[in-house]
Amino acid sequence: MAIKLNHTIVHSIDPGAAARFYSDLFGLPAPQPFGPFLDVVTANEVTLAFLSADGMEIQMQHYAFLVGEKEFDQIFGRIRKQGLEYWADPGQKQEGEINRHFGGRGVYFQDPSGHLLEIITQPYGEFPK
Ligand SMILES: [Fe+2]
Repeated sequence: MAIKLNHTIVHSIDPGAAARFYSDLFGLPAPQPFGPFLDVVTANEVTLAFLSADGMEIQMQHYAFLVGEKEFDQIFGRIRKQGLEYWADPGQKQEGEINRHFGGRGVYFQDPSGHLLEIITQPYGEFPK
């Protein structure tokens, strides 16, 4: 039987604002309530289940999204329009730049709770030597 990632919980300071941030930025369907969660579903049917961290300290996670060229332009346009900081690298040193790894484009930015997000137009290839 194939094994596919189905859902993950995204602990958030404000789950409503966080879920809307993802659905608006990525152009995904509006968040749907599911018990205490607010679900946003990606095109490959992975559910991001936003949940209040309930005052607990949020452990930063990293979520990477493979997007089409057109979607990259749209999302990156929204990132700039919102005045979000962005970086070419996960260490957040190359501010205001994007990368061209694996023949595509990639950029890192943060969600409202501080999780590090990444959009790429090409999946990772061989690890650079
Ligand atoms: Fe990554």
